[in-house]
Amino acid sequence: MMTDSEAAIRERLRCHDQDHLLRFWPRLSEDERRGLIAQIESIDFPLMDRLIDGWVLHKSLPKPFDRIETVPLITRAQCNGPEGQEATEAGEEALRSGRVGLFLVAGGQGTRLGFPGPKGAYPIGPVSQRPLFAFHAEKIHNLQGRYGCRLPWYIMLSETNEAETRAFFDANGYFGLQQADVRFCRQRMVPCVTPEGRFMLDDPGHIAMNPNGHGGSIPAMVECGILDDARERGVDTLSYFQVDNWAARVADPLFIGFHVSRHAEMSSKSQRRNDPNEAVGVHCLCDGEYRVIEYTEFETYPQMCKTADSGEIVYPAGNPAIHIVAVDFVKRVYDRYEEFPWHLAFKKIPYVDDQGDLVTPAHENGYKFETFIFDALRFVNHPPVVLEIERPGEYTPIKVYDGTNSVLRAWDVMAEYWARWFEAAGCRVPRDGNGKVSVRIEVSPQFARSEEEFLRKTRGWSWPTGGDLAIDPNGGWIASRK
Ligand code: UD1
Repeated sequence: MMTDSEAAIRERLRCHDQDHLLRFWPRLSEDERRGLIAQIESIDFPLMDRLIDGWVLHKSLPKPFDRIETVPLITRAQCNGPEGQEATEAGEEALRSGRVGLFLVAGGQGTRLGFPGPKGAYPIGPVSQRPLFAFHAEKIHNLQGRYGCRLPWYIMLSETNEAETRAFFDANGYFGLQQADVRFCRQRMVPCVTPEGRFMLDDPGHIAMNPNGHGGSIPAMVECGILDDARERGVDTLSYFQVDNWAARVADPLFIGFHVSRHAEMSSKSQRRNDPNEAVGVHCLCDGEYRVIEYTEFETYPQMCKTADSGEIVYPAGNPAIHIVAVDFVKRVYDRYEEFPWHLAFKKIPYVDDQGDLVTPAHENGYKFETFIFDALRFVNHPPVVLEIERPGEYTPIKVYDGTNSVLRAWDVMAEYWARWFEAAGCRVPRDGNGKVSVRIEVSPQFARSEEEFLRKTRGWSWPTGGDLAIDPNGGWIASRK
C-alpha cells in the first residue's frame, strides 16, 4: 500500500522527470524509504530544473566579459610601511574589542588527498602528526592569549563529513578551546546529474549528491544561526579561510585593519601567481565588477594563462581563498543568494546499475553543481580590499600527497620558513649540500605566530645539536619519531 506522502513524492518526481529514483522502492527497508523521501524533500526542484535545462541540456554559457582588468592591490610595500602599521593597530583594536569571529569551510571531501576522514583530520604535523584542525585551533589560542578576546570559531561541514568531524572534535577535547566557542553548521546538498539531466542513485535507497560549494556558506551562516550568534557576541567581522591551507594566518590584524578602516564589506588576500597554469583562481575586475575567474574556467578565458614579453603574468592576482566578510554583508547577500551563479563540473560519480550494484566509472559521467563564496564580491557597495601576501607563512595549501600543492611540498616549504626563525635565534639548522633543510621542523602556532614572537620567546634558549626541531604549543620539544 502506498501512503499519501509516498504518492505525493511519486507525483513530484514524475512532474520533474525523475521518477527512476524510486525504481528500487519495493526492496527498500522502512528506514531506507524514509531516508530517500527525506532526500527528495530536500531538493529544490524548480532550481534543479533551471540548472538542468540551462546548463546541462542546452549548455547556455554566460556571456563572456568585454573587459578584464587586474585588480588594484594593497602591495607588500604598503603593508610594510606606515599604512600597514596603522592597519595592524586598527585590526588589533578590533580583535581586543571582540568584533572578530572565524569562519572555516571544511565541508569538502579529501578525495584528492586519498585520505579517508575529513580533510581537517589529516595528520599534517611533520613530527607531531597533529591534524590540520589542531594547527588552526592553536592559532586561535595564540590570538586569544595575545588580545585577551574570545574568538568564536564557526565551521561549515556537509552531510558527507559532519558526524565524523564532530566526533573528531569531541575525541580531541575541542583542541583545548571552549566548546561553546566552536559552532558547526551544515551546508546544503545538491543532486548530481547525468548528461541527460537525470539525478543519480549511488545506492538503491540514496541519491548521489554533493555539497553546494563554499558559496553554500552564505545560506548556512544565516539558516544555522551563525549570524545571530555572531551578532549576540558583538562580532561584526568574520575571517574566512579554507581547512586545507595549513599556513593560513587567521584573523590577521593587518588584513582586518585594512578591511575595517576602509569600510569594506568583503576583502580578499592575493598571492602573486608564479605559474600561469597553477590551479588557483584569479582576482580580476570584469566589466568593472570584482570577480574571481576560477582555474577550471581558464579555457573560456585563455588570457588568464598569458605572460607578457617581460615574462610577467598578465593577470597576477592569485586567489588563496582567504577573505573577510562583514556580518551585515552576509545577510544582504543571503537575500540575493538566488542570483549567485552556479558552476558546473563534469566528474566521475559512482552510481548503481539496474541490478542495484555500485559502479565506479572509469570516465566522467555526471555533473556536480556548486556556488562559490567569491561570487559574493560582485554584490559589494564599497570596493573590496585586496591585500597582496607572500606565500611562505600565509599560503601552503594541501590538495594532494605528492607534487604541486602537496603534503610533501608543504613540509619542505614550512621547514624552510621555520628554519629561518631558528637560525635568526642562533640555532644551527642542519642543511644538505644544496642548502636544503635536512631535518623535520615544526613550530606550534600557539607558541609563536611570527618570527618576532619566536625570537622573543626563545631568548636565552640553548639549542639541540642534531635531530628534528619541533616545538609544541607550550614551548616544549616534541620528540622525533624514529
Ligand atoms: C580553491 C579555490 C581557488 C583557490 C584555491 C586555493 C574554489 C572553487 N576554488 O580551489 O580559487 O585558488 O582553492 O587553494 O574554491 N568546501 C566546502 N564545501 C564545498 C566545497 C568546498 O566547505 O561544497 C571547502 C573545502 O573543504 C576546502 C575549500 O572549500 O576547504 C576549497 O575547496 P576545493 O574544492 O579543494 O577548492 P580548490 O579546487 O582547491
